[in-house]
Amino acid sequence: MAPTLALVGATGAVGTVMIDIINGRESVPWGEIRLIASARSAGKKIMVRGEERTVVELSPEAFDGVDVAMFDVPDEVSAEWAPVAAARGAVAVDNSGAFRMDDEVPLVVPEVNSGEVGNRPKGIIANPNCTTLSMMAALGALHREFELTELVVASYQAASGAGQGGIDRLHAELEAVAGKGLGSKAGDVREALEAAGLPLADSPFAGTPLALNVVPSAGSYKGDGWYSEELKVRNESRKILGIPGLKVSATCVRVPVVTTHSLAVHATFAREVTVDAAHKVFDAQPSIVLIDDPDNGRFPSPADVVGGDPTYVGRVRQALDFPNTLDFFVCGDNLRKGAALNTYEVAEQVIATL
Ligand SMILES: NC(=O)c1ccc[n+]([C@@H]2O[C@H](COP(=O)([O-])OP(=O)(O)OC[C@H]3O[C@@H](n4cnc5c(N)ncnc54)[C@H](OP(=O)(O)O)[C@@H]3O)[C@@H](O)[C@H]2O)c1
Repeated sequence: MAPTLALVGATGAVGTVMIDIINGRESVPWGEIRLIASARSAGKKIMVRGEERTVVELSPEAFDGVDVAMFDVPDEVSAEWAPVAAARGAVAVDNSGAFRMDDEVPLVVPEVNSGEVGNRPKGIIANPNCTTLSMMAALGALHREFELTELVVASYQAASGAGQGGIDRLHAELEAVAGKGLGSKAGDVREALEAAGLPLADSPFAGTPLALNVVPSAGSYKGDGWYSEELKVRNESRKILGIPGLKVSATCVRVPVVTTHSLAVHATFAREVTVDAAHKVFDAQPSIVLIDDPDNGRFPSPADVVGGDPTYVGRVRQALDFPNTLDFFVCGDNLRKGAALNTYEVAEQVIATL
């Protein structure tokens, strides 16, 4: 019998893209597809593969008969409910940060470590955070060829990384500042937002305007100057690539882009990496699209690649003073490969291990 899939968090930013992915597939291996969210959304109707389905409230019974349960909910909801799903016999594939660094939970990117899918003592598999995921297909491919030793990253993260609330906030801010000639006087954007009834205290972006601005932090403060997104990039890159001692330093910032994270990657390898050699590696990886044409100024940018499944790579340069170091720019849709798509790919791979 075809396996049953549950989608927990079906109504959120990632859940909505997940349904889009399921609807866009030519065929899916699932029988029943069950949509689950909180009591707030229970009863809502959503079309899935031509059939209207009703969202049900999260409960232990909601997992009865489920083979694979994908979790696209806040950390604390996954922390409580993924083990419940596992105890009821489902394999939980979790998109939150609740289990990523748990030694008994594999952290899987199919292009890099798909062999880990079957190694799940808790019945839970974790999906990496969207910033790390956006560069993993590229870094994994380079690492296999040249052996990664150091990684320095600067991110340019989209508003939707903060969920549907982040998307709504950016749109509201843009509407409040558009056409007013703001941005040349310190504080004028902040004042315009407050005056428009958008208090910065309510913003998910560190009390800083995102419209016409760059917010120099992402995630929550973790001490010693570091923010959670930066520590995730370090810890998760090490775990996925299987390099526990990898030297990593990241600076994560938020930019006024709705969806698609970008990263400037400065990666050092044990062996020399020329631009030609790197291009060959990227060309050979089916989930990477290389757009790297400096003569014509053609490179990937969020506005041009949003909604796409691949990882887009460009601006590939051998560092002038460091032959073993490659600089490149990566763009990836944080709601697709950065979240829903990777989870879905893992969920499909789970079927072979049931
Ligand atoms: N956004 C990204 O780029 C991204 C990338 C990678 C990973 N993630 C992770 O994916 C998860 C979902 O993120 P998101 O951006 O989609 O968030 P979101 O837009 O805020 O959606 C949250 C979803 O969780 C449901 N939910 C919240 N509390 C619940 C509860 N107590 N019981 C049952 N369902 C509950 C919501 O249902 P209701 O409609 O009923 O409220 C909604 O479907 C988070 O852990 C996030 O860190 C996000």
